[in-house]
Amino acid sequence: MAQKPKLFVTRKLPPDVEARLRHDYDALHNDNDAVYGPDDLVRLSMETKCEGILTCGTEKWTADVISRLPDHVKVLATFSVGYDHIDVDAAEKKGLIVTNTPDVLTAATADISMLCLLGAGRQAQNSEKVLREGAWGRWEPMGMLGVDVTGKKLGIYGMGRIGQAVAQRARGFEMEIHYCNRTRLPADKELGAIHHPTPEDMLPHCQFLSINSPGGADTLHFLNAERIALLPDGAVVANTARGTVIDDNALIPALQSGKVGAAGLDVFENEPGFDKRYLDLDNVFLLPHVGSATIETRNGMGFRALDNLDAYFAGKEPGDRVV
Ligand code: DGY
Repeated sequence: MAQKPKLFVTRKLPPDVEARLRHDYDALHNDNDAVYGPDDLVRLSMETKCEGILTCGTEKWTADVISRLPDHVKVLATFSVGYDHIDVDAAEKKGLIVTNTPDVLTAATADISMLCLLGAGRQAQNSEKVLREGAWGRWEPMGMLGVDVTGKKLGIYGMGRIGQAVAQRARGFEMEIHYCNRTRLPADKELGAIHHPTPEDMLPHCQFLSINSPGGADTLHFLNAERIALLPDGAVVANTARGTVIDDNALIPALQSGKVGAAGLDVFENEPGFDKRYLDLDNVFLLPHVGSATIETRNGMGFRALDNLDAYFAGKEPGDRVV
């Protein structure tokens, strides 16, 4: 019987994914879900003599880590669509194949974008807090007032797969969709959404703003003080993309002053850390990076990552090759 390929799996994955892994690979699993730092990643790659690594967004594959990987490591499959935790230039230089998991988490993440837009716009966090703290007195004509989502103008920054799925959902709320992309979508994908070639052009229209761009250097602190100033007063901002896309030092004062009426945030710079000033604000709806957190979606991500590894080990081109 042919030997199973050697794999290093950096996180504990859903049971169905682990079962497929155990069946098809000679893998080092992380049954206790231990946290691996840079030195562990290098050491375990060496000790396992693995040819492939299955990782998550939580492990940082910097140029330094990649340069220290043994030469027998040939493929790095990430259980995520985003790959800003991998220095892809360094990987390419080393001849390391990198794959990701697009498509399978589009719907789940777009759902959480809507949850953030609705949660922030309707102050879900304050309503829930009142119940949990036993502080609900009586129904009040002026209690817990948010803003309507229905019929408002929504700007989407990053109109890729997830941005388009947000637009599809927002149409159900009769929102007028604006989007900012370098290239305009074809009519069958745009579906009446209004294209803006620059953020500066789009932001003044955004009563609601949904951030759905990739992370990384190109979008670092995209939402800064200058761009926030372009938003209509009281705009609602939702981010399910990457925390790095928002400059917290600009958004927090804007939330304090009411320039930004509310924010729904699922992602943060330096996760699992985040700027604790958000906790003092009652106009933010906060989630701990749960965009893709459904069992169906996490299975889909695992199977997609394994499809990529299977292709590599079968001598084929992986479907989701990044470099
Ligand atoms: C991804 O896949 O990039 C997500 O952030 C994980 O949910």
